[in-house]
Amino acid sequence: MAMILDGNALSAEIRTEVAADVAQLTAATGIVPGLNLLLVGEDPASTVYVRNKSKDCEKVGIRSIVLRLPAAATEAEVLHQVRVWNADPSVHGILVQLPVPKHINEHLVIRTIDPNKDVDGFHPENAGRLMIGLDGFIPCTPYGVLEILKRYSIETSGRHVVVVGRSNIVGKPLAMLLAQKRPQGNATVTICHTGTIDLAEHTRRADIVISAVGVHGVITAEHIKVGAVVIDVGINRITLPDGTTKLTGDVLFDEVSMKASAITPVPGGVGPMTRAMLLRNTLTSAERVAGVKQ
Ligand code: GUN
Repeated sequence: MAMILDGNALSAEIRTEVAADVAQLTAATGIVPGLNLLLVGEDPASTVYVRNKSKDCEKVGIRSIVLRLPAAATEAEVLHQVRVWNADPSVHGILVQLPVPKHINEHLVIRTIDPNKDVDGFHPENAGRLMIGLDGFIPCTPYGVLEILKRYSIETSGRHVVVVGRSNIVGKPLAMLLAQKRPQGNATVTICHTGTIDLAEHTRRADIVISAVGVHGVITAEHIKVGAVVIDVGINRITLPDGTTKLTGDVLFDEVSMKASAITPVPGGVGPMTRAMLLRNTLTSAERVAGVKQ
């Protein structure tokens, strides 16, 4: 039976560390880290996510405000708001919750955020910095996965990692980070995606499988080598035969956990880590402004 990689416990640890570091920064410099969140429209899931991110901030001493614009808001209005926050020195992090309504160009919104306040790590400058190994902001989900590997002392150097999924938010940055000569890196990395002919042929050779697809059941026991580590980034809502719904990952947890040496559950694995790393990135941004961090 696999060891459970407990994202709830680890994220609590990280929140405690961030709270202590926030208190220290504020005591030393008077700076209170601030995260401003913009939600355009009324998507129920996005509304919950933004509310949770804001609550997380308050608990660790990060000031946070949520601005809600109607779904009909124009692209110009959204860009204007981002620019106002870019110019406000009390704002250290800017997060525009995605997806934005279709009439708004998501890439343009992301590019308008000051890269020094882009705590999501989505701006092309931060994506480029990550690619070439410079400091910037690491997107929160890849960052959370690296923290799981680090805090459970899971060796990546020289090992074969298969990343399933090639999104800009998770798969691509994670694959880049794992391949770099850095802690939680130096791995041999394979990226699989919807164009992969025989997924199991690749994943069965992996020491670590990371699935970020968003489809329940893409990773079964057949896909996993005995003793492999399995990180499940997927968050999928499925309907059970009795009509109720539940959250699941990409991985068939019950059968895979019989074969793997360690596995993240869903919920309670990568999800809470993503939220915790947003707090860490916001604090890092404030620390850079204060000149106490590179
Ligand atoms: N929508 C879903 N996940 C995210 C995220 O990590 N950041 C933003 N801005 N929007 C999202």
